[in-house]
Amino acid sequence: MRDIAPFHVMELVARAKALEAEGRDIVHLEVGEPDFPSAAPILAAAQQFLQAGRVAYTHACGIAPLREAISAWYQHQFGVDVPPARIVITAGASGALQLALGALVSPGDEWLIPDPGYPCNRHFVRLFEGVPRAISVGADSVYQPTAAQVARHWQAATRGVMLASPSNPTGTLLPPQELAGIWNEVQGRGGALIVDEIYQGLVYDSQAATALALSDEIFVINSFSKYFGMTGWRLGWVVVPEAHLRNVEKLAQNLFICAPTVAQYAALAAFSSAALDIFEARRREFLQRRDVLIAGLRCIGFGIPIVPQGAFYVYAESSRFAPDSYALAYRLLNDAGVAATPGIDFGDTNAAAHIRFAYTTDIARIEEAIARLDACLNR
Ligand SMILES: Cc1ncc(COP(=O)(O)O)c(C=O)c1O
Repeated sequence: MRDIAPFHVMELVARAKALEAEGRDIVHLEVGEPDFPSAAPILAAAQQFLQAGRVAYTHACGIAPLREAISAWYQHQFGVDVPPARIVITAGASGALQLALGALVSPGDEWLIPDPGYPCNRHFVRLFEGVPRAISVGADSVYQPTAAQVARHWQAATRGVMLASPSNPTGTLLPPQELAGIWNEVQGRGGALIVDEIYQGLVYDSQAATALALSDEIFVINSFSKYFGMTGWRLGWVVVPEAHLRNVEKLAQNLFICAPTVAQYAALAAFSSAALDIFEARRREFLQRRDVLIAGLRCIGFGIPIVPQGAFYVYAESSRFAPDSYALAYRLLNDAGVAATPGIDFGDTNAAAHIRFAYTTDIARIEEAIARLDACLNR
């Protein structure tokens, strides 16, 4: 338990709530959760399912129609053939990551994880008695690890690599040739690769991609939380290489029994054209917000060397304003009423020099935040 760190931003969120209770107006740019309500077709599907009145356990790997719908989605979106049997439905990407790592990690195994990165990953590795090892990434490699770095960091005890594309907190995509290079290094050493594609649908200037196009041997994580806007429904999936299927199924049975049943039936509607129209409109809205936020932050003086191509985050260089982004985040909250997440929550690499802004609020509020930040930092 000593190795499991809390989310530092939660203390900041508590402070923001306290300020709001005092009547202060806070612009929330710290939350990694879409601000849109659940799409109407999803709510209708859930209501229809509930009408029938029987909410029971499902198969540990999920209901067949949902696994088939996801399989069809991979075929339709990416031209990739993923049999439904290899798609295991989970309680969010969080459940998917636990199944994948539970199946892959033995005590003492080392796993390479980009830093900055999604903070829970190193804790999931630790949970299964593995040893997370950071690969420091920066703007020079679009905040993603390179094949050369993976080769350099690989030790005798290294067993695998975890990646995310688009990434949290940087929003950057792993270039396809780099992914292929990393897979080559991993495969050549008999290791495993997990690619977290939770932000897959939220890609702006290029085509969304999947690592499944590269190989059936890669574990791919996904979720209904972000593009499909279903955070609280707790639903995701993992695409499992054939040889590991039985082990993942055993783990799913033991750890969770099954993913939430109502959510599974509701998610069937996520692939309807009515729902997809809503998600695409929201994606376009996110793109506009991104551009407003980046232009505003750059104008104020934050460093944004790479325009993030996906997710809903801007990982901005903040050292011009303060040496410690944790202290800066408190100053921005207290003085400007703007909440953002300090770099320390995502690892150690230049963490004190970075702060993450999430564009999970509307353009008017983003513009308000920009005006307040400008007044706080430049006047
Ligand atoms: C990169 C990444 N992976 C996984 C998760 C977990 O998401 P969920 O369990 O809601 O699907 C998150 C949540 O923010 C994330 O950013």
